[in-house]
Amino acid sequence: MTRYQTDDKNWGLVTRILKAAKTGIEMGSVKPHIAPIYQTVNFEYPDAEQGLAIFEGKQEGYIYTRYSNPSTDLFAHMVSVLEGAEGGLAASSGMAAISSVFMAHTQKGDHIVSSKDIYGGSRAFFVRDLAAMEREIDFVDITDINKIATKIRKNTRILYTEILGNPNLVFADIVKLGELARDHNIKLIVDNTFTPPPIAQPIEMGADIIIHSATKYLGGHGDLVGGVILGQHHDLKDVAAKLINFGGCLSPFNAWLGIRGLKTLLLRLERQCENALKLAQFLETHPAVNKVYYPGLESHPCHGLARSQLQGFGAMLSFEVKGGFETAKALIDAVRVCRFTVSLGEIDTLIIHPASTSHVSLSVEDREKIGITDSLLRLSVGIENYSDLENDFLQAFDKLNHGNSDEF
Ligand SMILES: Cc1ncc(COP(=O)(O)O)c(C=O)c1O
Repeated sequence: MTRYQTDDKNWGLVTRILKAAKTGIEMGSVKPHIAPIYQTVNFEYPDAEQGLAIFEGKQEGYIYTRYSNPSTDLFAHMVSVLEGAEGGLAASSGMAAISSVFMAHTQKGDHIVSSKDIYGGSRAFFVRDLAAMEREIDFVDITDINKIATKIRKNTRILYTEILGNPNLVFADIVKLGELARDHNIKLIVDNTFTPPPIAQPIEMGADIIIHSATKYLGGHGDLVGGVILGQHHDLKDVAAKLINFGGCLSPFNAWLGIRGLKTLLLRLERQCENALKLAQFLETHPAVNKVYYPGLESHPCHGLARSQLQGFGAMLSFEVKGGFETAKALIDAVRVCRFTVSLGEIDTLIIHPASTSHVSLSVEDREKIGITDSLLRLSVGIENYSDLENDFLQAFDKLNHGNSDEF
């Protein structure tokens, strides 16, 4: 019997990520502790014969950064270790990742079934751009597996979802969706931006391809825009070609920021999920709040399934404040710890009022159809000391209360 466990397959995920960050970073006798940034457009070839072999694809070697670069490759490799995927590709943004995957995996005349509760930018890409390229898209309630089965046709190629859908954090049962996709020989593609490992590892659950906006939790510090695509090599080949031809490469500097961010992802998420659960429980009992949407709450319709399939419930939550549009706006001005801005997955807590910002161009009726009421606020919970978050809302609700005749 061995006393020590030295096989890295048995290491924990944090240790494996730290190890992965060192893959291929030595240069001859130089052993950098931290991966350098390959901030270069092009690479020189050892000699004419090897240059020919590299261009013919017979010898491995870097040519030009839009094709590939050691920094972007290392970043994608680390995310593939994180997700337990065979391979990974880095992209210039989450949207570059999404658009490249759909252009590679569908042809004119193909059909896509997508959850209706997805990021607005993905939806806009489907209805404007993919539809113009003659792909048909059906949007479905992702919790209704029987209905989804009836939507799958002969020309359906892709079933697409996020795991916790905006804004009410609707939970997609990836295990069941994976079975459905396999039964119909179509690909299950999952945007895992809201629920990165260890919260969910969709490939293990039955997904074929995973997409991330690395702009969010993977980078984690609000200083890079990037994307990643994970899956088996045969599913990534055509996606890589689209990234090259449409110019969706990640910059080496952003890849390097991503490499740094990934090293602390699991620690950050642990704290963020813990803070989010406590904050959701606190908000649910506060008289100023009408409703809280967070899968970690027993009141959430997907709580049981989320508990059985996720490790933690993520750090995104939304809630409806009593009083409507103006009260929600006033709350934005009243908070002092939460930062008023779009995006998510950063180390500090971000707050947004979708009705007066990201969704202001929609009519009230259209907003309500997608669950965005006038009083809805969305939080991306950060790593702050929990008591400061709770106190921030207590003082903000107090401020609102003094401005109102009705006591909460
Ligand atoms: C779930 C989800 N997927 C994809 C994206 C697009 O990512 P990016 O802004 O990096 O293109 C976003 C952006 O907010 C998102 O929330």
